[in-house]
Amino acid sequence: MKKGFIFDLDGVITDTAKYHFIAWRDLGAEIGVAVDLKFNEQLKGISRMDSLDRILAHGGKENDFTMDQKEALAAKKNTHYVELLQSLTPQDLLPGVKEFLDAANAKQIPCAIASASKNAPFILEKLGVKDQFAGIVDPATLHKGKPDPEIFVKAAELLNIKPEEAVGFEDAQAGIDGIKACGMYAVGVLSGEPLHGADLTCHELTELNIDELLQK
Ligand code: BG6
Ligand code: MG
Repeated sequence: MKKGFIFDLDGVITDTAKYHFIAWRDLGAEIGVAVDLKFNEQLKGISRMDSLDRILAHGGKENDFTMDQKEALAAKKNTHYVELLQSLTPQDLLPGVKEFLDAANAKQIPCAIASASKNAPFILEKLGVKDQFAGIVDPATLHKGKPDPEIFVKAAELLNIKPEEAVGFEDAQAGIDGIKACGMYAVGVLSGEPLHGADLTCHELTELNIDELLQK
């Protein structure tokens, strides 16, 4: 019997993955690196600075910027991203998310957020669901990003349960790998690209039966 649910944010709770893409694509255009949708898949679940490093490497520009310049580029991307987030409302929750959280809360099954995003608390406020989570992992406390399992282990700790007692939800391959690396049950939320190693996949949370998941 599972005792908690652990969610990635971008691409699982809301479709902010598209705003990350727009902001990185535009930053890439400014520095002469083409960021297309296919390459963008490699940025999902990856921290802000690690994403910038991947973009620079992708364009053969990994040695072109100082650390201070990279900090400025990452801050510029984030400013644009946060501008795009201003219009978020509860209507931007992905299908089935509100119903799933309400059902979990009613059953007193605690939920946590395991997202690499430093904007997670702000986004959850805008979506009107922040109070429905018993815990949000602070990504600033992490030593390693996804696919390392650290963030999922911490999320389980926040819920006072073991990783194997939780169900994790992810839209990124790095996230599925992290969930499986700590023995958690993995639900892959598909958005085009296949996800390898998930225990179960769906296109949206409306397809899931919460009672069946708790039995996994
Ligand atoms: C992850 C996204 O959830 O958060 C990544 O999938 C993003 O694309 C990362 O880079 C960090 O987000 P932020 O909001 O701190 O820049
Ligand atoms: Mg995601």
